[in-house]
Amino acid sequence: MKKIVIVSVLTSIVLIGVILSYVGNIIGDDMVNILSVLAAIVILGLTVGVGLKYVNQMKNDKAGGELADENWDGIGEYKNNIPVGWGVSFIGTIIFFIWYLLAGYPVWSFSQIGQYNEEVKEYNKKFEEKHKNMTKEELQDMGESIFLVNCAPCHGVTADGMGGKAADLTKRISAESVKYVIEHGSNIGLVGEGIAMPDRNGLFNTNTGAPLTDEEIETVAQYVANGFVGKKGAEIFAGTCAACHGPDGKGQPFVAPNIRNFTPELVQAVLEHGKKGAIGTMPSFRVEDLRLTETQQKAVGTYISNLSSEE
Ligand code: HEC
Ligand code: HEC
Repeated sequence: MKKIVIVSVLTSIVLIGVILSYVGNIIGDDMVNILSVLAAIVILGLTVGVGLKYVNQMKNDKAGGELADENWDGIGEYKNNIPVGWGVSFIGTIIFFIWYLLAGYPVWSFSQIGQYNEEVKEYNKKFEEKHKNMTKEELQDMGESIFLVNCAPCHGVTADGMGGKAADLTKRISAESVKYVIEHGSNIGLVGEGIAMPDRNGLFNTNTGAPLTDEEIETVAQYVANGFVGKKGAEIFAGTCAACHGPDGKGQPFVAPNIRNFTPELVQAVLEHGKKGAIGTMPSFRVEDLRLTETQQKAVGTYISNLSSEE
Protein backbone atom coordinates (compact mmCIF):
# COMPACT_ATOMS: atom_id res chain seq x y z
CA MET A 1 0.00 0.00 0.00
CA LYS A 2 2.80 2.41 0.90
CA LYS A 3 4.46 1.69 -2.41
CA ILE A 4 1.25 2.69 -4.21
CA VAL A 5 1.07 6.03 -2.42
CA ILE A 6 4.69 6.82 -3.14
CA VAL A 7 4.40 5.86 -6.81
CA SER A 8 1.18 7.89 -7.25
CA VAL A 9 2.70 10.98 -5.62
CA LEU A 10 5.83 10.67 -7.75
CA THR A 11 3.81 10.18 -10.94
CA SER A 12 1.68 13.25 -10.13
CA ILE A 13 4.76 15.37 -9.52
CA VAL A 14 6.30 14.25 -12.80
CA LEU A 15 3.07 14.98 -14.72
CA ILE A 16 2.72 18.42 -13.15
CA GLY A 17 6.38 19.09 -13.87
CA VAL A 18 5.86 18.20 -17.52
CA ILE A 19 2.79 20.45 -17.76
CA LEU A 20 4.58 23.38 -16.09
CA SER A 21 7.61 23.08 -18.34
CA TYR A 22 5.27 23.10 -21.34
CA VAL A 23 2.97 26.02 -20.50
CA GLY A 24 5.14 28.00 -18.09
CA ASN A 25 3.72 29.70 -15.03
CA ILE A 26 0.03 28.77 -15.04
CA ILE A 27 -0.51 29.60 -11.37
CA GLY A 28 0.19 33.32 -11.11
CA ASP A 29 -1.23 35.10 -8.06
CA ASP A 30 -4.89 34.46 -8.79
CA MET A 31 -6.58 32.66 -5.88
CA VAL A 32 -9.03 30.82 -8.14
CA ASN A 33 -6.13 29.59 -10.27
CA ILE A 34 -4.24 28.39 -7.24
CA LEU A 35 -7.29 26.53 -5.94
CA SER A 36 -7.91 24.92 -9.34
CA VAL A 37 -4.34 23.78 -9.59
CA LEU A 38 -4.52 22.31 -6.06
CA ALA A 39 -7.76 20.55 -6.94
CA ALA A 40 -6.15 19.26 -10.13
CA ILE A 41 -3.24 17.87 -8.10
CA VAL A 42 -5.63 16.11 -5.70
CA ILE A 43 -7.66 14.65 -8.56
CA LEU A 44 -4.53 13.55 -10.37
CA GLY A 45 -3.18 11.90 -7.21
CA LEU A 46 -6.46 10.10 -6.56
CA THR A 47 -6.72 8.91 -10.14
CA VAL A 48 -3.22 7.50 -10.24
CA GLY A 49 -3.65 6.00 -6.74
CA VAL A 50 -6.97 4.30 -7.49
CA GLY A 51 -5.66 3.10 -10.85
CA LEU A 52 -2.59 1.54 -9.25
CA LYS A 53 -4.73 -0.01 -6.50
CA TYR A 54 -6.82 -1.85 -9.06
CA VAL A 55 -3.78 -2.97 -11.04
CA ASN A 56 -2.35 -4.30 -7.82
CA GLN A 57 -5.62 -6.03 -6.96
CA MET A 58 -5.74 -7.71 -10.35
CA LYS A 59 -2.25 -9.01 -9.82
CA ASN A 60 -2.59 -10.29 -6.28
CA ASP A 61 -6.26 -10.81 -5.34
CA LYS A 62 -7.70 -14.28 -5.09
CA ALA A 63 -11.33 -14.80 -6.08
CA GLY A 64 -13.64 -15.64 -3.20
CA GLY A 65 -17.27 -16.03 -2.23
CA GLU A 66 -20.00 -18.44 -3.29
CA LEU A 67 -19.78 -19.83 -6.82
CA ALA A 68 -22.97 -19.66 -8.91
CA ASP A 69 -24.43 -22.95 -10.19
CA GLU A 70 -24.18 -22.16 -13.86
CA ASN A 71 -20.89 -22.31 -15.65
CA TRP A 72 -19.86 -21.96 -19.28
CA ASP A 73 -17.26 -24.45 -20.44
CA GLY A 74 -15.96 -24.52 -16.92
CA ILE A 75 -15.86 -20.76 -16.48
CA GLY A 76 -18.01 -19.88 -13.47
CA GLU A 77 -19.21 -16.73 -11.75
CA TYR A 78 -19.11 -15.69 -8.11
CA LYS A 79 -22.23 -14.35 -6.43
CA ASN A 80 -20.86 -11.01 -5.31
CA ASN A 81 -22.96 -8.01 -4.30
CA ILE A 82 -23.23 -5.15 -6.71
CA PRO A 83 -20.54 -2.56 -5.85
CA VAL A 84 -22.19 0.13 -3.74
CA GLY A 85 -20.91 3.04 -5.84
CA TRP A 86 -22.17 1.45 -9.04
CA GLY A 87 -25.59 0.71 -7.52
CA VAL A 88 -25.99 4.24 -6.19
CA SER A 89 -25.10 5.85 -9.53
CA PHE A 90 -27.43 3.46 -11.36
CA ILE A 91 -30.41 4.34 -9.16
CA GLY A 92 -29.34 7.99 -9.27
CA THR A 93 -29.52 8.08 -13.07
CA ILE A 94 -33.01 6.57 -12.99
CA ILE A 95 -34.19 9.17 -10.48
CA PHE A 96 -32.57 11.94 -12.53
CA PHE A 97 -34.25 10.62 -15.68
CA ILE A 98 -37.70 10.67 -14.05
CA TRP A 99 -37.11 14.13 -12.61
CA TYR A 100 -35.86 15.43 -15.96
CA LEU A 101 -38.79 13.95 -17.84
CA LEU A 102 -41.48 15.24 -15.48
CA ALA A 103 -40.12 18.45 -14.03
CA GLY A 104 -36.69 19.30 -15.41
CA TYR A 105 -35.75 21.94 -17.92
CA PRO A 106 -36.76 22.15 -20.70
CA VAL A 107 -39.64 19.68 -20.65
CA TRP A 108 -43.01 21.23 -19.69
CA SER A 109 -41.39 23.42 -17.18
CA PHE A 110 -40.37 26.94 -16.34
CA SER A 111 -37.55 28.22 -18.47
CA GLN A 112 -35.88 31.59 -18.71
CA ILE A 113 -36.40 31.67 -22.46
CA GLY A 114 -40.09 30.88 -22.02
CA GLN A 115 -40.48 33.60 -19.44
CA TYR A 116 -38.60 36.09 -21.60
CA ASN A 117 -40.90 35.32 -24.53
CA GLU A 118 -43.99 35.70 -22.34
CA GLU A 119 -42.80 39.10 -21.17
CA VAL A 120 -41.93 40.26 -24.67
CA LYS A 121 -45.41 39.21 -25.86
CA GLU A 122 -46.95 41.13 -22.98
CA TYR A 123 -44.88 44.18 -23.80
CA ASN A 124 -45.60 43.92 -27.53
CA LYS A 125 -49.33 43.93 -26.82
CA LYS A 126 -48.96 47.23 -24.97
CA PHE A 127 -46.72 48.54 -27.76
CA GLU A 128 -49.32 47.67 -30.43
CA GLU A 129 -52.08 49.26 -28.36
CA LYS A 130 -50.08 52.44 -27.86
CA HIS A 131 -49.18 52.84 -31.55
CA LYS A 132 -52.53 51.88 -33.00
CA ASN A 133 -53.28 55.12 -34.78
CA MET A 134 -50.08 56.42 -36.27
CA THR A 135 -49.84 58.94 -39.06
CA LYS A 136 -47.81 58.17 -42.14
CA GLU A 137 -45.01 60.47 -40.95
CA GLU A 138 -44.85 58.73 -37.59
CA LEU A 139 -44.74 55.33 -39.27
CA GLN A 140 -41.95 56.54 -41.48
CA ASP A 141 -39.89 57.82 -38.55
CA MET A 142 -40.35 54.59 -36.69
CA GLY A 143 -39.58 52.68 -39.87
CA GLU A 144 -36.33 54.54 -40.36
CA SER A 145 -35.05 53.61 -36.89
CA ILE A 146 -36.08 49.99 -37.36
CA PHE A 147 -34.40 49.95 -40.74
CA LEU A 148 -31.13 51.34 -39.41
CA VAL A 149 -30.99 48.73 -36.66
CA ASN A 150 -32.35 45.61 -38.35
CA CYS A 151 -31.91 46.03 -42.07
CA ALA A 152 -28.97 48.38 -42.68
CA PRO A 153 -26.35 45.74 -41.78
CA CYS A 154 -27.26 43.98 -45.04
CA HIS A 155 -29.08 46.58 -47.13
CA GLY A 156 -26.78 49.48 -46.22
CA VAL A 157 -27.59 52.74 -44.46
CA THR A 158 -28.83 54.24 -47.72
CA ALA A 159 -30.70 51.01 -48.58
CA ASP A 160 -28.78 50.64 -51.84
CA GLY A 161 -27.92 47.00 -51.09
CA MET A 162 -24.21 47.70 -50.50
CA GLY A 163 -22.98 46.81 -53.95
CA GLY A 164 -25.14 43.75 -54.41
CA LYS A 165 -24.88 42.20 -50.92
CA ALA A 166 -28.66 42.52 -50.55
CA ALA A 167 -31.51 43.91 -52.66
CA ASP A 168 -31.30 47.58 -53.60
CA LEU A 169 -34.44 48.93 -51.93
CA THR A 170 -34.28 52.35 -53.54
CA LYS A 171 -35.90 50.80 -56.59
CA ARG A 172 -38.34 47.98 -56.92
CA ILE A 173 -36.51 45.14 -58.57
CA SER A 174 -33.37 44.39 -60.58
CA ALA A 175 -33.36 42.75 -64.02
CA GLU A 176 -31.31 39.94 -62.49
CA SER A 177 -34.04 39.23 -59.94
CA VAL A 178 -36.83 39.34 -62.53
CA LYS A 179 -34.96 36.82 -64.68
CA TYR A 180 -34.38 34.61 -61.65
CA VAL A 181 -38.10 34.58 -60.83
CA ILE A 182 -39.04 33.75 -64.43
CA GLU A 183 -36.50 30.90 -64.51
CA HIS A 184 -37.40 29.43 -61.13
CA GLY A 185 -40.93 30.57 -60.42
CA SER A 186 -41.71 31.90 -56.96
CA ASN A 187 -43.77 30.80 -54.01
CA ILE A 188 -43.00 32.82 -50.91
CA GLY A 189 -46.47 34.08 -50.11
CA LEU A 190 -46.15 37.62 -51.44
CA VAL A 191 -49.92 37.81 -52.10
CA GLY A 192 -51.09 34.87 -49.99
CA GLU A 193 -50.14 31.35 -48.96
CA GLY A 194 -49.74 29.01 -51.92
CA ILE A 195 -50.40 31.62 -54.60
CA ALA A 196 -47.36 30.94 -56.72
CA MET A 197 -45.84 32.23 -59.94
CA PRO A 198 -45.07 29.47 -62.46
CA ASP A 199 -41.55 29.15 -63.87
CA ARG A 200 -40.75 29.72 -67.56
CA ASN A 201 -42.27 26.36 -68.53
CA GLY A 202 -45.64 27.63 -67.33
CA LEU A 203 -45.44 31.07 -68.95
CA PHE A 204 -46.61 31.74 -72.48
CA ASN A 205 -46.34 34.72 -74.72
CA THR A 206 -49.94 34.99 -75.93
CA ASN A 207 -48.79 37.12 -78.87
CA THR A 208 -46.66 34.32 -80.29
CA GLY A 209 -48.42 31.41 -78.54
CA ALA A 210 -45.03 29.96 -77.57
CA PRO A 211 -43.03 29.71 -74.34
CA LEU A 212 -40.74 32.67 -73.66
CA THR A 213 -37.35 32.62 -75.39
CA ASP A 214 -34.17 33.65 -73.57
CA GLU A 215 -34.17 36.86 -75.54
CA GLU A 216 -37.76 37.67 -74.59
CA ILE A 217 -36.98 37.01 -70.93
CA GLU A 218 -33.99 39.37 -71.11
CA THR A 219 -36.11 42.05 -72.81
CA VAL A 220 -39.03 41.86 -70.37
CA ALA A 221 -36.67 41.77 -67.37
CA GLN A 222 -34.96 44.97 -68.55
CA TYR A 223 -38.41 46.49 -69.14
CA VAL A 224 -39.58 45.78 -65.57
CA ALA A 225 -36.28 46.79 -63.98
CA ASN A 226 -36.03 50.04 -65.91
CA GLY A 227 -39.38 51.40 -64.86
CA PHE A 228 -41.62 49.95 -67.56
CA VAL A 229 -40.20 51.74 -70.59
CA GLY A 230 -39.49 50.17 -73.99
CA LYS A 231 -41.84 49.09 -76.79
CA LYS A 232 -40.68 45.51 -77.21
CA GLY A 233 -40.68 44.83 -73.48
CA ALA A 234 -44.14 46.33 -73.18
CA GLU A 235 -45.47 43.93 -75.80
CA ILE A 236 -44.07 40.88 -74.07
CA PHE A 237 -45.27 42.14 -70.70
CA ALA A 238 -48.77 42.74 -71.99
CA GLY A 239 -48.86 39.33 -73.64
CA THR A 240 -47.39 37.32 -70.75
CA CYS A 241 -47.34 39.06 -67.40
CA ALA A 242 -50.15 41.59 -67.41
CA ALA A 243 -52.89 38.99 -66.95
CA CYS A 244 -51.63 38.45 -63.42
CA HIS A 245 -49.53 41.49 -62.56
CA GLY A 246 -51.92 43.98 -64.15
CA PRO A 247 -51.26 46.10 -67.25
CA ASP A 248 -49.20 48.59 -65.22
CA GLY A 249 -47.38 45.93 -63.13
CA LYS A 250 -49.01 47.11 -59.94
CA GLY A 251 -50.41 43.68 -59.18
CA GLN A 252 -53.81 42.44 -58.11
CA PRO A 253 -54.95 41.28 -54.68
CA PHE A 254 -54.57 37.51 -54.27
CA VAL A 255 -53.33 37.14 -57.87
CA ALA A 256 -49.88 38.66 -58.21
CA PRO A 257 -47.77 41.24 -56.37
CA ASN A 258 -46.88 44.76 -57.35
CA ILE A 259 -43.59 44.57 -59.27
CA ARG A 260 -43.50 48.26 -60.04
CA ASN A 261 -43.36 49.79 -56.55
CA PHE A 262 -42.79 48.61 -53.03
CA THR A 263 -45.92 48.77 -50.90
CA PRO A 264 -46.04 48.30 -47.12
CA GLU A 265 -48.07 45.09 -47.62
CA LEU A 266 -45.45 43.65 -49.96
CA VAL A 267 -42.58 44.42 -47.59
CA GLN A 268 -44.61 42.90 -44.76
CA ALA A 269 -45.08 39.73 -46.78
CA VAL A 270 -41.31 39.53 -47.37
CA LEU A 271 -40.67 40.09 -43.67
CA GLU A 272 -43.08 37.29 -42.74
CA HIS A 273 -41.69 34.76 -45.21
CA GLY A 274 -38.13 35.80 -45.91
CA LYS A 275 -36.89 35.45 -49.45
CA LYS A 276 -34.40 33.31 -51.34
CA GLY A 277 -33.53 34.83 -54.68
CA ALA A 278 -30.96 35.78 -57.25
CA ILE A 279 -28.96 37.88 -54.81
CA GLY A 280 -29.06 35.70 -51.73
CA THR A 281 -31.21 34.91 -48.74
CA MET A 282 -33.23 37.46 -46.85
CA PRO A 283 -34.08 36.25 -43.33
CA SER A 284 -37.64 36.46 -42.05
CA PHE A 285 -38.68 38.88 -39.31
CA ARG A 286 -41.90 37.17 -38.30
CA VAL A 287 -44.36 38.53 -35.76
CA GLU A 288 -44.73 35.03 -34.36
CA ASP A 289 -40.99 34.73 -33.74
CA LEU A 290 -41.14 38.06 -31.87
CA ARG A 291 -38.73 39.63 -34.36
CA LEU A 292 -40.90 42.62 -35.31
CA THR A 293 -44.45 43.50 -34.32
CA GLU A 294 -47.09 44.10 -36.96
CA THR A 295 -46.83 47.85 -36.45
CA GLN A 296 -43.06 47.70 -36.79
CA GLN A 297 -43.38 45.71 -40.01
CA LYS A 298 -45.84 48.23 -41.34
CA ALA A 299 -43.57 51.10 -40.29
CA VAL A 300 -40.50 49.74 -42.04
CA GLY A 301 -42.69 48.88 -45.04
CA THR A 302 -43.89 52.45 -45.20
CA TYR A 303 -40.31 53.68 -44.95
CA ILE A 304 -39.16 51.48 -47.84
CA SER A 305 -42.17 52.27 -50.04
CA ASN A 306 -41.37 55.90 -49.60
CA LEU A 307 -37.68 55.46 -50.45
CA SER A 308 -38.44 53.90 -53.80
CA SER A 309 -41.10 56.40 -54.78
CA GLU A 310 -38.98 59.46 -53.99
CA GLU A 311 -36.93 59.58 -57.19
C1 HEC B 1 -50.10 33.21 -63.43
C2 HEC B 1 -49.91 34.52 -62.90
C3 HEC B 1 -48.56 35.15 -63.14
C4 HEC B 1 -47.95 35.42 -64.34
C5 HEC B 1 -48.46 35.10 -65.73
C6 HEC B 1 -46.73 36.12 -64.02
N1 HEC B 1 -46.59 36.23 -62.67
FE1 HEC B 1 -45.04 37.07 -61.71
N2 HEC B 1 -45.83 36.52 -59.95
C7 HEC B 1 -47.05 35.90 -59.80
C8 HEC B 1 -47.25 35.61 -58.38
C9 HEC B 1 -48.45 34.93 -57.75
C10 HEC B 1 -46.10 36.08 -57.72
C11 HEC B 1 -45.81 36.02 -56.23
C12 HEC B 1 -45.22 34.67 -55.92
C13 HEC B 1 -44.71 34.56 -54.54
O1 HEC B 1 -45.44 34.87 -53.60
O2 HEC B 1 -43.55 34.18 -54.38
C14 HEC B 1 -45.24 36.64 -58.75
C15 HEC B 1 -43.99 37.21 -58.48
C16 HEC B 1 -43.24 37.85 -59.41
C17 HEC B 1 -41.98 38.52 -59.13
C18 HEC B 1 -41.28 38.53 -57.81
C19 HEC B 1 -41.52 39.75 -57.03
C20 HEC B 1 -40.62 39.80 -55.81
O3 HEC B 1 -40.63 40.81 -55.15
O4 HEC B 1 -39.94 38.81 -55.53
C21 HEC B 1 -41.54 39.04 -60.29
C22 HEC B 1 -40.29 39.84 -60.51
C23 HEC B 1 -42.51 38.69 -61.31
N3 HEC B 1 -43.52 37.97 -60.73
C24 HEC B 1 -42.41 39.06 -62.63
C25 HEC B 1 -43.20 38.52 -63.63
C26 HEC B 1 -42.97 38.75 -65.03
C27 HEC B 1 -41.90 39.63 -65.60
C28 HEC B 1 -43.94 38.05 -65.68
C29 HEC B 1 -44.10 37.90 -67.15
C30 HEC B 1 -42.97 37.36 -67.87
C31 HEC B 1 -44.76 37.39 -64.69
N4 HEC B 1 -44.28 37.70 -63.45
C32 HEC B 1 -45.84 36.59 -64.96
C33 HEC B 1 -47.94 35.56 -60.76
C34 HEC B 1 -47.69 35.65 -62.10
C1 HEC C 1 -28.92 39.08 -43.45
C2 HEC C 1 -29.06 40.14 -44.41
C3 HEC C 1 -30.40 40.83 -44.51
C4 HEC C 1 -31.08 41.50 -43.52
C5 HEC C 1 -30.71 41.68 -42.08
C6 HEC C 1 -32.23 42.07 -44.17
N1 HEC C 1 -32.27 41.72 -45.49
FE1 HEC C 1 -33.69 42.21 -46.81
N2 HEC C 1 -32.75 41.15 -48.26
C7 HEC C 1 -31.55 40.50 -48.09
C8 HEC C 1 -31.17 39.87 -49.35
C9 HEC C 1 -29.92 39.06 -49.61
C10 HEC C 1 -32.22 40.15 -50.26
C11 HEC C 1 -32.31 39.74 -51.71
C12 HEC C 1 -33.10 38.48 -51.88
C13 HEC C 1 -33.14 38.11 -53.32
O1 HEC C 1 -32.18 37.48 -53.78
O2 HEC C 1 -34.09 38.51 -53.98
C14 HEC C 1 -33.17 40.96 -49.54
C15 HEC C 1 -34.34 41.44 -50.10
C16 HEC C 1 -35.22 42.30 -49.47
C17 HEC C 1 -36.40 42.85 -50.07
C18 HEC C 1 -36.83 42.68 -51.49
C19 HEC C 1 -37.76 41.56 -51.66
C20 HEC C 1 -38.38 41.51 -53.05
O3 HEC C 1 -39.48 41.00 -53.10
O4 HEC C 1 -37.77 41.92 -54.02
C21 HEC C 1 -37.01 43.63 -49.12
C22 HEC C 1 -38.30 44.42 -49.26
C23 HEC C 1 -36.20 43.55 -47.94
N3 HEC C 1 -35.12 42.73 -48.16
C24 HEC C 1 -36.47 44.22 -46.78
C25 HEC C 1 -35.74 44.09 -45.61
C26 HEC C 1 -36.09 44.75 -44.37
C27 HEC C 1 -37.26 45.67 -44.18
C28 HEC C 1 -35.16 44.34 -43.46
C29 HEC C 1 -35.09 44.74 -42.00
C30 HEC C 1 -36.23 44.51 -41.19
C31 HEC C 1 -34.23 43.46 -44.11
N4 HEC C 1 -34.61 43.33 -45.41
C32 HEC C 1 -33.16 42.84 -43.50
C33 HEC C 1 -30.79 40.45 -46.96
C34 HEC C 1 -31.15 40.97 -45.74
